Amino acid sequence: MKFAIFGDIHGNIEALKAAYNAALSAKAEKIYHLGDLGGYSPFVNEVVDFLIEHTIEGVQGNYDETVAHDREHCGCKAEDPLQEEMANQSFAWTKDHASAKTKEFLGKLPVEITFIVHGRKVALFHATPRKNNLYWYEDRPEKFFQEMAGKIDADVLIYGHTHRPYRKDLESKIFINAGSVGKPKDGDPRACVTLIEITPDNVNVEFLRVPYDVEKAAEAIVSSGLPEYFAERLKEGR
Ligand SMILES: [Fe+2]
Repeated sequence: MKFAIFGDIHGNIEALKAAYNAALSAKAEKIYHLGDLGGYSPFVNEVVDFLIEHTIEGVQGNYDETVAHDREHCGCKAEDPLQEEMANQSFAWTKDHASAKTKEFLGKLPVEITFIVHGRKVALFHATPRKNNLYWYEDRPEKFFQEMAGKIDADVLIYGHTHRPYRKDLESKIFINAGSVGKPKDGDPRACVTLIEITPDNVNVEFLRVPYDVEKAAEAIVSSGLPEYFAERLKEGR
């Protein structure tokens, strides 16, 4: 079985459309998203509509939970005061512009999806199943991966939130961070589509980078009234 994962779309409809076409071209039988559907780019409602229209199931991210419930803070971590201020503006904008239908959809997303392929249990969640805003970077110590493996009953663990893709194999477990469709932070502005093929013998993972009209997406950020800061970062993939 081959499926595609769309991590952290973050209101970027241009990137989502390109990712969807790439998943179809790659003959993915099923597509899942990993939540964080709004924020930083303006098209949270359009992203939700697209996912509904194309029956793309997925899980709830910290941004989805906090927008749905009109919380004070998105639950995102800022690296400096400017980033904190920009993040606050993005969060306020998204709460103001997300429709009632969108908020209801975001609020109802499950925190985890699990299924079994060729005897391997697959678990999808945003950051971890219990804490949706923990940054699970590749360079976390091995002990951390082992602890998480002990807490999560799955053989293939698929998550996002950091916007930086990786695969790590440890003992019998496979850890896959699917990166981000709409706001990559690994220096490559192209959308990241993670293709996973599970055969009776192997789990093959490919991080496909999909070009799309980043300029158009950046212009939409500026004309929406969101901070230009996010347009600049989108173009740089950070
Ligand atoms: Fe997130």
